[in-house]
Amino acid sequence: MKKILITGGAGFIGSHVVRLFVNKYPQHQIYNLDKLTYAGNLFNLTDIEKKPNYHFIKADIVDGEHMMKLFEEYKFDSVIHLAAESHVDRSISNPMEFVLTNVIGTVNLLNAARHNWQNDFEGKRFYHISTDEVYGSLGAVGFFTETTSYDPHSPYSASKASSDHMVRAYHDTYNLPIVISNCSNNYGPNQFPEKLIPLFINNIRHNKSLPVYGKGENIRDWLYVVDHARAIDVIFHKGMDGETYNIGGNNEWKNIDLIKVMCKIMDEKLGRPTGTSERLITYVKDRAGHDMRYAIDSGKLQRELDWTPSLQFEEGIRITIEWYLTNQEWLDEVTSGNYLKYYEEQYVER
Ligand code: NAD
Ligand code: TYD
Repeated sequence: MKKILITGGAGFIGSHVVRLFVNKYPQHQIYNLDKLTYAGNLFNLTDIEKKPNYHFIKADIVDGEHMMKLFEEYKFDSVIHLAAESHVDRSISNPMEFVLTNVIGTVNLLNAARHNWQNDFEGKRFYHISTDEVYGSLGAVGFFTETTSYDPHSPYSASKASSDHMVRAYHDTYNLPIVISNCSNNYGPNQFPEKLIPLFINNIRHNKSLPVYGKGENIRDWLYVVDHARAIDVIFHKGMDGETYNIGGNNEWKNIDLIKVMCKIMDEKLGRPTGTSERLITYVKDRAGHDMRYAIDSGKLQRELDWTPSLQFEEGIRITIEWYLTNQEWLDEVTSGNYLKYYEEQYVER
């Protein structure tokens, strides 16, 4: 029996990871630790919250003393660390929040694990979940590999890069048993509608304009969130100590092409004449420091740990749109209150 701490389990990716682990490993105890910021929502987990191996702890990873106490109390033997501030645009308006949660919060967890494990690392693992954005921006060709130099440009990616370095430093300095993965853009159910795909689905639904940054030519590599959760499961169980694994969908899309595909499917699903949603596209001021292209080479993960994405994008995007349209209550709930204030501030000057 393992006691696995999953941080950020009420968020987008974390909730899919918690679900997978709770259902697949009934012999393990799964502790979901989350502060429940605007991005965390326990509605994401109603289907598993009554399971005997699921536990929720409301806590802030920035509180180092509390992390230390929780480790002493629960004796976690593994950590899968996803809790983070995750949205680039918010990091541009409020970088300190990102330093606190992503850097200080990560170091607090590293300290708590190190202190509690006391050099007895048998059966222990600290798994840090990171992003491909730490590698910076690619030109028209090439891919990020695990040996690509770090070159972050946004406060978000700089804070994640910093946390990755701290995790590696705890391995190299104190022998803490760590593993890291860096994943490309995720999409799927339960993503907070400030990120491109759920934001545009929600805007189309409400006939609101679709704010495309710059010329819409930036490229992202999209992976279905459940495939990311599957990769996390594989790396957690089979990844080599101290190693990094890149995770990606091999699925590059120019923003504007992706948006047009979404518009077409939304017209179909909402029974609107073809072209209705595309007319909502509005080109707005570009994001500051906007990375041009991300593309992941996930060959190491595929070769060494035998993982491949299970879902083709054409199917994944349809499932995703269908989910947001059948879960409008969820969308309405998370976009009320504070979110509206954020939305007005974020887009008013663009
Ligand atoms: P998210 O913003 O949806 O969820 C983050 C969760 O962390 C929320 O539940 C929030 O309440 C919690 N949290 C935030 N600050 C906290 C704090 N101080 N203490 C405790 N909990 C806190 O993020 P996501 O998209 O699910 O991303 C999860 C992780 O995966 C992040 O580390 C992110 O950097 C990484 N990642 C995300 C993507 C992506 O496309 N979304 C891609 C690669 C890697
Ligand atoms: P996003 O979902 O914020 O992810 P990331 O910036 O972490 O890759 O954005 C994906 C792409 O979509 C990125 O190139 C920025 C662009 N974008 C827009 O054009 N308009 C928007 O309103 C948002 C949120 C993003």
